[in-house]
Amino acid sequence: NKENAMRLAKAAEEAREASYSPYSGFAVGAALLTEDGEIFTGANIESSSYTPTVCAERVAFFTAVHKGCRNFRAIAIVGGKAGESISAFCPPCGVCRQVMAEFANPDFEIVLYNGSDVKIYTLAEIFPESFTKDNLK
Ligand code: THU
Repeated sequence: NKENAMRLAKAAEEAREASYSPYSGFAVGAALLTEDGEIFTGANIESSSYTPTVCAERVAFFTAVHKGCRNFRAIAIVGGKAGESISAFCPPCGVCRQVMAEFANPDFEIVLYNGSDVKIYTLAEIFPESFTKDNLK
């Protein structure tokens, strides 16, 4: 529901403070909620060579998986100009959607927050016709 989504968005906002984004100047935070109610967070981490950059969402997912968790309910994502407060929705990039599809179910929720409102999508909605492990069978 919207109340829980807001709470997760606030955790993403706090996580965003650890963003290392000197090249884009765009700071992103993510908060990933597990089936057990635990929250793993992440922020984007950039590189002078640009391509090694990792998005906030993947930092959160890989931290959780590394800690032994593979069951997820939702992720909140916030992003905007570094040093400024959130004023627009920040949808997850295609690579992060692929990583979500690896570990999350189609009904996994993606919460976007623009500083005042939340928008909630399912993974199935924002990543239809995806390539998954089933295609490798
Ligand atoms: N970024 C994220 O962390 N997540 C997204 O969903 C969109 C993009 C980061 C990558 C890069 O550090 C900066 O935002 C600009 O693309």
